[in-house]
Amino acid sequence: MLKPALPAVAIVIFAGAASLPGGQAALPEGPGRTILQSACASCHSLDVVTEKRWSNQRWRDSVNAMIGRGATLDKDQARELVAYLETHFGNQRAQGLFEDICSSCHALERVAKRSLSRAQWGTFIKGMISEGNPVNDEEFGILLDYLAEHYGEKDQVETNQ
Ligand code: HEC
Ligand code: HEC
Repeated sequence: MLKPALPAVAIVIFAGAASLPGGQAALPEGPGRTILQSACASCHSLDVVTEKRWSNQRWRDSVNAMIGRGATLDKDQARELVAYLETHFGNQRAQGLFEDICSSCHALERVAKRSLSRAQWGTFIKGMISEGNPVNDEEFGILLDYLAEHYGEKDQVETNQ
C-alpha cells in the first residue's frame, strides 16, 4: 500500500490539472491556447473550461453559446479553439471505456437503439457489466456521463441540437 500503482491515464489527467504557483491552471501547449486565454478568461475562471471532459460536439455548442454571450472570436479562431479543447479536454477516455467494456459481450450497435436517462442507464448496465467487466466507481460514472450524452433520452437530445 506504500506505492499504489496509478494507471497511466490517471497520471496524465492529474498532470493536466496541475496548477502554476499563481493559482492559474497550467494550460497545455497548442495553437488554441492563446485564443482560450484571450477570449475565454474575461467573464469566468478558465477552470470552468479545463475541468470538463467533453466531446467535440459539446465543445462546439459551448463555444457557440459563449459567442452568443459576448465572447469575441471569429470563425477560424472558434474552429481552432474547439480542436484544442477536444484534444486536451475531450472525452477520449470515456469513448475508450465505452468501446472496450460495452463491446465485450455484444455489438456496440445494440446500444444505439436505446435512449435512456443517466439514471436509467445506471440501473440498466449495473447488473450487466458487473457480471463480466467490473469497473470502479469513477469509471462507472464516466460511462454513465457518456451514455447519457450520446444515448440519452430523445427529447433531451433534440433540445441540444
Ligand atoms: C461575455 C462573458 C463570457 C465569455 C467571454 C465566455 N464565457 Fe463561458 N460562461 C459565461 C457565463 C455567464 C456562464 C454561465 C452560464 C452558462 O453556463 O451559460 C459561462 C459558462 C461556461 C461554461 C460552463 C458551462 C457548463 O455547462 O458548465 C463553459 C465550459 C464555458 N463558459 C466556456 C467558455 C469558453 C470556451 C469561452 C471562450 C470561447 C467562454 N466561456 C467565454 C460567460 C462567458
Ligand atoms: C458481461 C457481458 C456484458 C457486458 C460487459 C455488457 N453487456 Fe449489454 N447485454 C448483455 C446481455 C447478456 C444482454 C441481454 C441479452 C441479449 O439481448 O443478448 C445485454 C443487452 C444489452 C442491451 C439491450 C439490447 C437490446 O437489443 O435490447 C443494451 C442496450 C446493452 N446491453 C448495453 C450495454 C452497455 C451500454 C454496456 C457497457 C456499459 C454493456 N451493455 C456491456 C451483456 C453485457
